[in-house]
Amino acid sequence: MASLACNIPTFFVIVSILFSSINANSAQPPTRICPHFDCGNGITIRYPFWLQALQLEHCGYEGLNLSCHAQIPILNLSSDLYQVRSINYLENSLIVSHTELTETNNCPKIHHDFTLTLTNSYLFNFTSGNKLLRFFYNCTLYPPSLPDIACLQSGAKRSFVFTIGAIPEFDWHGYCESTVSVPVLEKALDDKELLVSSINKALPEGFKLTWRTPSGSCQFCEAFNSNGFCGYTNSSSTENFFCICPDGRHSISCPQDVFVSASFELNSVGSGAIVLAGLMIVATVFYFVQKKKNSLYKPVSRK
Ligand SMILES: *[C@@H]1O[C@H](CO)[C@@H](O)[C@H](O)[C@H]1NC(C)=O
Ligand SMILES: *[C@@H]1O[C@H](CO)[C@@H](O)[C@H](O)[C@H]1NC(C)=O
Ligand SMILES: *[C@@H]1O[C@H](CO)[C@@H](O)[C@H](O)[C@H]1NC(C)=O
Ligand SMILES: *[C@@H]1O[C@H](CO)[C@@H](O)[C@H](O)[C@H]1NC(C)=O
Ligand SMILES: *[C@@H]1O[C@H](CO)[C@@H](O)[C@H](O)[C@H]1NC(C)=O
Repeated sequence: MASLACNIPTFFVIVSILFSSINANSAQPPTRICPHFDCGNGITIRYPFWLQALQLEHCGYEGLNLSCHAQIPILNLSSDLYQVRSINYLENSLIVSHTELTETNNCPKIHHDFTLTLTNSYLFNFTSGNKLLRFFYNCTLYPPSLPDIACLQSGAKRSFVFTIGAIPEFDWHGYCESTVSVPVLEKALDDKELLVSSINKALPEGFKLTWRTPSGSCQFCEAFNSNGFCGYTNSSSTENFFCICPDGRHSISCPQDVFVSASFELNSVGSGAIVLAGLMIVATVFYFVQKKKNSLYKPVSRK
């Protein structure tokens, strides 16, 4: 009886420790090798982004290295330099702009295809939150009565812009000199205006990129809310992965208590409660089994 009396409180201590570790998902990485930083314009940069200047070791994803230029955080993607305008850490998204889009002087002559270079990115997705525009430049023949981009008229040649998915049927490739596509923020396009007049406001606002966790070791490190953060050391010019855990560094992922892993495998919001209920049932059954066992050895009469 006495041993059981101290077992039940012990159960609850264990359960509450488990709960506090389950609820500690929103942990921040340690600040020593994962410092928050700011290029000077008020945008907080933190995990999974990191500052290129801190080269010896860092935490953050490969490919999410930023550098500061004139107080603006810069991302280098497929050799294109993007200015980071804002980062939403809850949505895993950021808004970027490019000088080719911001410095158009209200005449959108864009030289390279942005969606083409972004399609190769294993880290970013540009399809959510944006509308994709397609420009057709210097067309010698075109359907009549479509509004063209007036500032780009060159002799008899005309240039056009459409949203992808709403391009009028025509042999654009056959009659236009060049074509590029560019994402713009969906909310920056004014539905009430003609597309040709609303793009000059939308282009300089940039577009949205959504990042994902790189596959492989980094995904294991972060998986099941193991509270791990992906880190890399950079010795002799090779990148070596490590997982930063509440108890220190590990090679792949954070060690997990058996109970915690069991509850994560249930993989639902109520998993903690299910584990707690399960433990309580086990404890209660155990208690009555013990009680019954004990009573077998005790005299029925207490007199
Ligand atoms: C990020 O690192 C890569 C590889 O070292 C480098 O080419 C790129 O310029 C860096 N990005 C920035 C913004 O410094
Ligand atoms: C951007 O990245 C490319 C390739 O990774 C590299 O060659 C180039 O030097 C980088 N540019 C800057 C300004 O860091
Ligand atoms: C990008 O995101 C959209 C919407 O979230 C999704 O449907 C699409 O499959 C994603 N594309 C890639 C290449 O992951
Ligand atoms: C259209 O062609 C003219 C020369 O005919 C050229 O100067 C101009 O840059 C071209 N426009 C675009 C957007 O490529
Ligand atoms: C790793 O170190 C090498 C030389 O020590 C350097 O050239 C390279 O840019 C570093 N890479 C990163 C991602 O910091």
